[in-house]
Parts: sequence; C-alpha cells; structure tokens
Amino acid sequence: MKKFVVVLAAGKGTRMKSKLYKVLHQVCGKAMVEHVVEAAQAINPDKIVTVVGNGAEEVEKVLDGKSEFALQKEQLGTGDAVLTAQEQLAGQDGATLVITGDTPLFTSQTFQSLFDYHQKKGNAATVLTAQAPNPYGYGRIIRDDQDNVLRIVEQKDGNLEELKIKEINTGVFCFDNQKLFSALKQVTNHNAQGEYYLTDVLEILRNNGERVGAYKMPDFSESLGVNDRIALAQASKIMQKRINEEHMRNGVTFVDPATAYIDTDVKIGNDTVIEANVVIKGHTIIGSDCLITSGSRIVDTKIGNDVTVTSSTLEQAQMDDHTDIGPNSHLRPRAIIREGAHIGNFVEVKNAEIGQNSKVGHLTYVGDATLGKDVNVGCGTIFANYDGVQKDHTTVGDRAFIGSGATLVAPVNVADHAFVAADSTITKDVAKYDMAIARGRQVNKPDYWHKLSLSKSEDWQ
Ligand code: UD1
Ligand code: CA
Repeated sequence: MKKFVVVLAAGKGTRMKSKLYKVLHQVCGKAMVEHVVEAAQAINPDKIVTVVGNGAEEVEKVLDGKSEFALQKEQLGTGDAVLTAQEQLAGQDGATLVITGDTPLFTSQTFQSLFDYHQKKGNAATVLTAQAPNPYGYGRIIRDDQDNVLRIVEQKDGNLEELKIKEINTGVFCFDNQKLFSALKQVTNHNAQGEYYLTDVLEILRNNGERVGAYKMPDFSESLGVNDRIALAQASKIMQKRINEEHMRNGVTFVDPATAYIDTDVKIGNDTVIEANVVIKGHTIIGSDCLITSGSRIVDTKIGNDVTVTSSTLEQAQMDDHTDIGPNSHLRPRAIIREGAHIGNFVEVKNAEIGQNSKVGHLTYVGDATLGKDVNVGCGTIFANYDGVQKDHTTVGDRAFIGSGATLVAPVNVADHAFVAADSTITKDVAKYDMAIARGRQVNKPDYWHKLSLSKSEDWQ
C-alpha cells in the first residue's frame, strides 16, 4: 500500500498579525511547517506534497529537498487546497495523510498509529480527533447515538448544541487516495466562511456509503493548532518540555527545566548541567560534563567536554575540551578556543583562535588573530584589527606574554617566547625571545606639589 502525505501551508495566517507567513513562524528553532514535514518524513511516505500559496517561495526554501509542492493560487479553503495536489496524486492507489501546516506538535508515532488504524478498519476516511479542554476555533466532531462519526462542524457554522462538543478535528486525516479526490470535487462553499472545507469530505463519503471513522488521541497536547501568537507560545512551551525531558532521559541535568530554552536540533552530552535561564539555539552541540550557567545564550556553537560557560554569549563559535569562559564574555563567529584555554570576564573574541592552555582573562578584545599555546594576554588588551577600511590579522606565538593594556595594531606578529610590555602600542613585529616596550617613558617632576598655585592656599598646605 502506497503512502502519500499532503501538508496544507498556503494560508496567510491573518490572526498572527505578522509579516512572516504563519507556517514559517518558529517553534523551538524550527518553522512549524518543517516540524510537520519532518514528522511526516519519519513514516517513510512515497511522496509528500506541500500546498503553498502565501509566501510560496519562502516556504519552498525552508522545505527544500523534503517535499514536492503544489501551488494554490487563491486560498479558497482547506478542501480546495488538497485539490491542488491532484496533479501529483489523483488517480493513484494508496492512503493519503492530510495534515495542516500549523500543527507543529504531532509526532511521527501518532501519524503511524492513525495510518495503521485506518488500514485496520478499512476506512475510506479516518479523522484524528482529540478531547480539547477549550474547543473554541476547532471543528467539532458530530457523532450519532451509536458513536459513528457523521460529520465535522466548523466553529463559525455550529449551533449552540454542536459548539458544546469538546471532541475536535485535529486537522489530520487519513484517506483512501482515490476516494479523497473524487469526494473533493463534490465539496461546495455553502457555509459561513464561503470556503471549500476539507472537513466536508467526511459527510460526502459517508453519504456515498463509504466507511468513515475517527481515531481519538488519548490526550490533546499534540493537537494544538497555531492560529495566533498565544497558541504559538503555548506550542513552544509544550515542545520545550518535550525537548528538555528527552535530554534529561539522556543524562543531562536541568536545574529548572521550565526556564531552559533549547532548540529542537541541539545535542547535549550526559552529566552536563544546565542552570536556569539558559538559551541554546540552532545546531549547537555540547559535550559531556559541562556546566552552562544562568544567563548564557549559545547559538550554533560547538562545545567539547568539561567546558564551563558562565553567563556568556556564544555564537557560531567553538570551545574545545577543558575550556572555560565568563562571566559576561562574548564569542562571536569563528572564535575558536583550543583545549585547556581560559577566557575570563568581559572578553570579546571574533574570528580568532586562542591556542591550547592560553589565557585571556580580563576585559580584552581579540579580533582576527591567531594565538599559539600557553600565551598570556593581560588585562585590557586590544587587538586593533580594523583601520577603517580593511581588517588585518595578528599572530602571537607560543608562550608569548602580552602585558596589560597593550594595543597590537594589525597586521603584526609577536613571535614565540616574546614579551610585550604593559601599555605598549605595537605596530612592528616582535622577534622570538625579545621584549617590546612602546610607550612614553615615565618622567617624574620633583616637588610638583609646591609649584602648584592651588597648593599655595591655606587649605591645601
Ligand atoms: C482547520 C479545520 C478545523 C480544525 C483545525 C485544526 C477546516 C475547514 N477546518 O481550521 O476543523 O479543527 O484546522 O487545527 O479544514 N490552508 C491552505 N489553503 C487554504 C486554507 C487553509 O493551505 O485555502 C492551510 C493553512 O495554511 C493552514 C491549514 O490549511 O496551515 C489550516 O487552515 P486554518 O485557516 O488555520 O484552519 P482552521 O480554522 O484552524
Ligand atoms: Ca489552524
């Protein structure tokens, strides 16, 4: 039996009040529609067709390589949306899973269970339903007194009795593919919204004498449909809990899982501790035995084992094993901290490699530089990398010592075992074993106090 999937993603999402098309809004670092398509991919369908319309180009870009596309030119309703996939699907034998693109919490297990149930029952259509604590906005499932599913009534079309029903249409269906497309042709737009509803297919099939059923989910949490920002935040909260619990099952400690925001694709090794108020995003990978303290924000960064990040911001950077940073430091793109190195507080590193066991302890900017092993960079050092037109590179050799308050003006090289005296402005290379001093010499003015006219007043004696 062939398996097909249709994902509906053409709507604008007016209720989001956004420039961004609804299905592209992110939940834990991934567009809603991408969550849907990835969960669908996991049941190995023969084909996935995503129906696009508003923001078609952007949606196609996000789903590139994961789905085929059908273009719905005008958003005439969910029934019309499925019909636009007929070119790719009509006439084929198989079962078709239809999913709305704004329900990001469904798991592939749920899709598989629906599919299996649908097959087992030999249904022409099976709707995935759930008992909603607050069913407002969802289509309601109307059953007869033998519990058979009769039809689905939309919020705007329901009468008072119907709207009391709490069993809702989750927006996910499994259909016999051929019967789906022939029934879709009979759908009309005679309803409160003047739209062609996919939900009407159930009643049409039933009236044609086909078997129609429902697969009811044990709990509602996967079914949340995101139509506005309130639901978006709810979906993120549910997904966040799911992600953090998965990490905890894998041996990660969360001091307060409710305030740790970890994106879907982040990987974390066991015995790592995540404190409260931490944000870890994108494709970040964190090893084992690390400590990430409160106030850290880590984006697309690779972190080895036994690394401590104290209240710091890391983006597109790398920290190798046994390193530490913070508090209040910033690794910017292409900062690489080699094994055993120490980055202290108020340090910014950009496009620079800090060699093994080197120390950059305090209030320093390192940009466009390569530092060797066992280098010591004193407090308040500046790697001046920009002359107003272009960026230049600085190298510092192994075991070099850079005194506090130095400014290294790129391009410049400080060789292995070289010294730079505190407060020097270095514009010329420093050779191996040498020391450079480049600062005004100290001049002491004897008895200056008595020469000051001020000091002649009575109060100052
Ligand atoms: C829909 C269902 C409702 C269900 C709910 C579940 C219908 C008529 N209603 O309502 O029964 O309880 O989902 O979350 O199906 N779309 C298109 N083209 C269109 C219209 C919509 O692609 O012409 C897409 C949207 O982008 C969206 C999805 O279909 O991803 C659902 O549309 P939406 O307007 O959000 O439907 P709901 O009112 O939530
Ligand atoms: Ca919706």
